[in-house]
Amino acid sequence: MAKRTESWTAVTLDVPLRDLDDAQGLLTACGCAGLELRDGEGGLPGIRQPKSGRALVIGSFETKAKAQAALKTARARLKAVAASLEPIEVRDWSTEWRARIRPVRVGRLWVGPPWETPPAGAVALRIEPKMAFGTGDHATTRLCLQAVDDFLAAHPKATVLDVGTGTGVLALAARALGAGRTVGTDNDPVAVELAIECAQENGIEGVEFREATLDGVSGEFDLVLANILANTLVQLAPHLAPKVGRRLVLAGVLVHQRAEVETAFLAQGLRAAGHAIEGEWIRLDFERAR
Ligand SMILES: C[S@@+](CC[C@H](N)C(=O)[O-])C[C@H]1O[C@@H](n2cnc3c(N)ncnc32)[C@H](O)[C@@H]1O
Repeated sequence: MAKRTESWTAVTLDVPLRDLDDAQGLLTACGCAGLELRDGEGGLPGIRQPKSGRALVIGSFETKAKAQAALKTARARLKAVAASLEPIEVRDWSTEWRARIRPVRVGRLWVGPPWETPPAGAVALRIEPKMAFGTGDHATTRLCLQAVDDFLAAHPKATVLDVGTGTGVLALAARALGAGRTVGTDNDPVAVELAIECAQENGIEGVEFREATLDGVSGEFDLVLANILANTLVQLAPHLAPKVGRRLVLAGVLVHQRAEVETAFLAQGLRAAGHAIEGEWIRLDFERAR
């Protein structure tokens, strides 16, 4: 497809459904480079849709002159047409998405993209946003980062298991704060690869990242983290609970899902140890009842 420039212009033809083919043919004959049809089926919120019995045909033209000529032709040839013309907004997505990724500061931790500079004194993790979840800018990750910071402040050499590690953000944060044995697992091999890369890019050694089921991970851990989703956590409860030496931190749970997740983990002999809420998300903490 040709590169978009400032002069790209869209022509919108609002026509009766019966004239849909004619409208498409006309815009194509006038040299439009791209066509979009909206016939009212499955419209997205916030996007203009046609009235009942009508359709919108939108053609993109490389120059305003071509668009104006198409508009004139449409008005002359199509009967019940409402035609309009507007410039196509030029957006550089390759840089725009970067602007939306904000670094986060949680306790001693700073997590941000490589192009941002952490404040002096912060324990910094730079995470390149790629194909795995966990750049620090999601509420569930922030809630867990707070738990990691709090737990490691009280238990500086704690052992840590991070289930559903994604980019490895929680495991790496724990290790950077002084954790002892640290293991991160994910059922997505791409996430595991990226977590290993992320550890290397941050110069953090000693975290075992694996694509493993929980039964393949030996031993108990002082802190077990699992930021996944409520239904998965409920399924994993009998496998997660035996790994918990002291504290279990669960996230990825919506506030209204709290009871079902709590029930599943209390049934495994763990004790509720508090919670934290950010927006619609809740973090649930448990401890091993001794
Ligand atoms: C919401 S992301 C959390 C990433 C990171 N830990 C964070 O806090 O930002 C959940 C991750 O769990 C992984 N996952 C989903 N189901 C899983 C399962 N049954 N076992 C292990 N990992 C799982 C996904 O592949 C994904 O990387």
